Amino acid sequence: TPEVRELLLSRITDVPNYPKPGVMFKDITPLLADPKAFGALTDTLVELAGRYGATKIVGLEARGFILAAPVAVKAGIGFIPVRKAGKLPGATLAQAYELEYGTAEIEVHAEDLSAGDRVMVIDDVLATGGTAEASLELIRRAGADVAGVAVLMELSFLPGREKLSGALAGAPLDALIVV
Ligand code: PRP
Ligand code: MG
Repeated sequence: TPEVRELLLSRITDVPNYPKPGVMFKDITPLLADPKAFGALTDTLVELAGRYGATKIVGLEARGFILAAPVAVKAGIGFIPVRKAGKLPGATLAQAYELEYGTAEIEVHAEDLSAGDRVMVIDDVLATGGTAEASLELIRRAGADVAGVAVLMELSFLPGREKLSGALAGAPLDALIVV
């Protein structure tokens, strides 16, 4: 709703020149510290999970974990962490993706996802779309279906949505706030 959107927006702080000169950082820690805002965010994402028909929630390390875990608990479905490379002890699937400078890699435990799963991906920000795109590759390679992607914030001055459209293959991408 517009009221929830307004509340969420009011709890996200602009931090200029962080982490680098010229970058405007969107700080969500005031939102997390406000139980009314964090609760409203969680409830909105739980509703989306229902609409997607999601059977698993994937959170993207690190900030995506914070948003995704309470959604999984409230929706009564499993939480699956997609982690930065080297953090998961079991057999993993790995996917590289591009950063502004160089590449990074994320992983998921292969046994956590399988055919028949409908997976909702949750993260805080969609910027270039590289992180989310790599997570969708992992989900499909594990044999599962992508139910949808939900982010708190979409940076509309970056082409993340376009970059993701191929990997979404028709699945929905919802941004609660577009800046
Ligand atoms: C940030 C943000 C998103 C990602 C978006 O994560 O939390 O996950 O970048 O960027 P992209 O769309 O260009 O891929 P980051 O890896 O910087 O740090 P985090 O571990 O704090 O989440
Ligand atoms: Mg992140």
